[in-house]
Amino acid sequence: MHNLVTVNNVSDEFLSNVFSRAKEYKYRRQHSRPLWDELHGRLHNHLLLTDFFEPSTRTRFSFEAAMSYLGGMVIGTENAAEFSSFKKGESLADNFKVISAYCDIIVGRFLNEGEAQTAADSSMVPVINGGDGKGEHPTQALIDLFSIIEKFPNPEKLRISFIGDNKHSRTVQSLARLLARYTCIKEMVFMGAEEVNFSDEVFSDELFGIAKDHELDVVLVNTLDQSFIKKTDIVYITRSQIERHYFKGTLQGNFIFTNEIADMMPAHGLILHPLPRNSELPVEVDNNPRAYYFQQAHNGLFVRMAILEELCLNRT
Ligand code: NCD
Repeated sequence: MHNLVTVNNVSDEFLSNVFSRAKEYKYRRQHSRPLWDELHGRLHNHLLLTDFFEPSTRTRFSFEAAMSYLGGMVIGTENAAEFSSFKKGESLADNFKVISAYCDIIVGRFLNEGEAQTAADSSMVPVINGGDGKGEHPTQALIDLFSIIEKFPNPEKLRISFIGDNKHSRTVQSLARLLARYTCIKEMVFMGAEEVNFSDEVFSDELFGIAKDHELDVVLVNTLDQSFIKKTDIVYITRSQIERHYFKGTLQGNFIFTNEIADMMPAHGLILHPLPRNSELPVEVDNNPRAYYFQQAHNGLFVRMAILEELCLNRT
């Protein structure tokens, strides 16, 4: 694999290599400083360029830390819209034609859906999509799935509920597509206020890559329906993506996932959130035994180290 623009081009082999390597890195980090230090040198002399047109905390820092711990080098801008020649009217294609000559791999974050592909088409080195508008965020989906497998190592008939701004969240787009491949997923429920949820017109099996022979129940509901919460194994919450709202007026019904609602989940349940959070996930939930979102964010370092290694050394 050369670029990582969408989960659609993630092969099973790539995924399994990334996950086994990420697991090993996490073990080293948590158990042995010398074993962790040994990783320094794996990407010696490789240079990562981060080109971000939108704000970021986890994606940019974890990629930059990942490259640094592997012994590579990092250059970049956290605000390409302001500090690159984009501001002078340079096209994204020209930007990537030029900057790809200065590095070995690029992580980009883009303002609009589809721009990650434009960047990849213009680049001479692998491009990783760190989020393109409401399009996709494939590395986040890999982190999410890695976190799910940590909790459910032998997944079977899992039910997942996506709660919040499903329509505009690129993390939901990528994770739902990735999960739709696996027959161990029994049910996907999309819960969100009408303006921000999928509708029957928007949601289609083709769009989400759901195979015809996959007995997957897809449910769309416009309320925070407790009957689903009570039987869901995984809740995946997202904040309201107000920067991508094109409808007029204020959002009716921003769902708040309180601790009381969290406690309705089965005891083995898992609560994920790509972060950052706003009011949809009160701080009180952090102490709930099902809360896993900070560990999920920490996993970002290990999964992204593995992704960089796979792509830089062109292993799969
Ligand atoms: C997400 C994103 O940028 O799409 N953040 C992240 O990378 N973890 C989620 C969000 O912004 O709501």
